[in-house]
Amino acid sequence: MNVLGIESSCDETAASVVADGKVVLSSVVESQIDLHAIYGGVVPEIASRSHLESINPVIDQALDQAFHVKNGISSREVWDQIDAIAVTHGPGLSGSLLIGTLAARTLAWLHDKPLIGVNHVTAHAYVNWLGNDQPKFPALALIVSGGHTQMVLFKDHFKYQLLGQTRDDAIGEAFDKVAKMLGFSYPGGPSVARAAKNGDAKKYQFPKARMENRYDFSFSGLKTAVLRTLQSEIGEGHSFPSHQLSERLSKAQKDNVAASFQYIAVKTVVDAVERAVEQYNPVSFIIGGGVAANQELREQLQQRIPLEISYPSLELCTDNAVMIATLGFYQSGLHEDVVTPHTLSIKPSLAM
Ligand code: KG4
Ligand code: ZN
Repeated sequence: MNVLGIESSCDETAASVVADGKVVLSSVVESQIDLHAIYGGVVPEIASRSHLESINPVIDQALDQAFHVKNGISSREVWDQIDAIAVTHGPGLSGSLLIGTLAARTLAWLHDKPLIGVNHVTAHAYVNWLGNDQPKFPALALIVSGGHTQMVLFKDHFKYQLLGQTRDDAIGEAFDKVAKMLGFSYPGGPSVARAAKNGDAKKYQFPKARMENRYDFSFSGLKTAVLRTLQSEIGEGHSFPSHQLSERLSKAQKDNVAASFQYIAVKTVVDAVERAVEQYNPVSFIIGGGVAANQELREQLQQRIPLEISYPSLELCTDNAVMIATLGFYQSGLHEDVVTPHTLSIKPSLAM
């Protein structure tokens, strides 16, 4: 069964064809990073305009790649090989979600294909079901991205328990905000990780939030602690503007703050994973989302979690449509998840 996946929830326009939820036939990701970098974060208006320009070419390219389209093959013959269309309908930016879902609805109607609305966050976990070596249940999943930080226990497909989630900023968002204070380029995760390599992670003791639910997270206090430390490092008070900090900081100060911040942000999630492994005794542990690319996270998990961890490749950690097609394949077996092109609506605040 070939599923065409479409993703446009934030700042990547992506399309992919996946066979049987296992084999990637194509994956095209058009990133808007350069468009947003000068603003230091995603600008929703710019994102939706860019999705609008890219969505059709990206889908065409994914179909061409998947079926090695050569001159002479009709669009009809290509579409005959697609069995269903899966699209991210939430959570995400409204304007961005609209472009992907409208494209998917139009194509499903035009080519008479089943249509499936997919949860972007669940899909970050499902990328781990690609290939032949699939996670066994119960599987503990850690989803760490720019928009989400959550821990989920999958007892079976579609039978899961949300153990905890962030109460304020997502971990990736905290990386992005700290990067901005340090004057690093967007997206901040990779820049902070690079600087941290040269820094001393023990130089500053940033606080770790204590939560009522032992699996919940909070990163906004950590972000404020970093801001206060930077202000006092340059001898200024709390009112000193964060966008003027970086020019007054030395490279060593930036590297040390990056390393100390990264250490505690990562430790926060690894502590929670360790507790969940002890309490729920999962057979497998899976990870997804952009922050799963972080090397410090991988090292701390390896040292402390007594389970084999399989990491998605770097391009499958960050936003992509392979994960949407993969989850779409599993949802295609659920009658209630297959919707008509007339009824699929966006769900910007969709929870797991
Ligand atoms: O999953 P993703 O592409 O988009 C969302 O669904 O949010 O994740 C993007 C996030 C950004 O916050 C980015 O800074 C972070 O993932 N990220 C990293 C790394 N690579 C990307 N954070 C820490 N270390 C990295 N190496
Ligand atoms: Zn994502």
